[in-house]
Amino acid sequence: MKKITLKLFRYNPETDTKPHYDTYKLEVEPTDRVLDLLERIKGYEDGTLSFRRSCAHGVCGSCAMRVNGENKLACKTLMQDLSGNKVVVEPILGLPVKKDLIVDMEPFFINYKSVMPYFINNGSQPEKEHIQSIEEQERFDDTAKCILCGACTTSCPSFWSNDEYVGPAAIVNAHRFIFDSRDQGAAERLQILNDQFGVYRCRTIFNCTVACPREIEITKAIGEVKKAIASGNLE
Ligand code: SF4
Ligand code: F3S
Repeated sequence: MKKITLKLFRYNPETDTKPHYDTYKLEVEPTDRVLDLLERIKGYEDGTLSFRRSCAHGVCGSCAMRVNGENKLACKTLMQDLSGNKVVVEPILGLPVKKDLIVDMEPFFINYKSVMPYFINNGSQPEKEHIQSIEEQERFDDTAKCILCGACTTSCPSFWSNDEYVGPAAIVNAHRFIFDSRDQGAAERLQILNDQFGVYRCRTIFNCTVACPREIEITKAIGEVKKAIASGNLE
């Protein structure tokens, strides 16, 4: 057990003219997660505290937030992994705050949908399944791990400065289909991303790769999409 100070970003657009922080003193176990602390505050101190959560096991991507200034999933961030005795929890940046730790994800999903993140194959269909080798599957295995938490896009300074930039999460999900040997939509997706608000807004800052809770090599994937646009092939 150790004693910590938990500082929470609070903002209720119906009653507040500007955000403020509420502070709590808590005793925590090394294995307590940030999400556990938020549940304690909501359950026993202030039921109006608002935050997103669903699976609580790092799969749904709902609880992305800033913990001590870094984008994390609250359900995967343990007290033993945070240094010091102060924990500051704030909403992810670059998207409008709706209430407390909840941001409006709509702009994020508009960008995501713009790259056609779904399987496209209008050719003749095989009698059974589409056959794919292990090597072909490995080509997009990493980017297929995305859980759409938004931690990457909302840690990207290029996105903060202009939210018309499609952002790393959208490019990751385009990559997942562009390099799928069964898909036929690569040329159209590459054309969409070959735009002033597409891949070239990426300045190789790497915040996205650091923030990803799924450890996807995001900057590498963006580089592969840039290369495919420049070379005109998917090698
Ligand atoms: Fe989250 Fe990683 Fe997907 Fe970005 S690429 S949305 S950080 S899982
Ligand atoms: Fe942004 Fe990641 Fe590129 S942080 S600039 S998308 S490498």
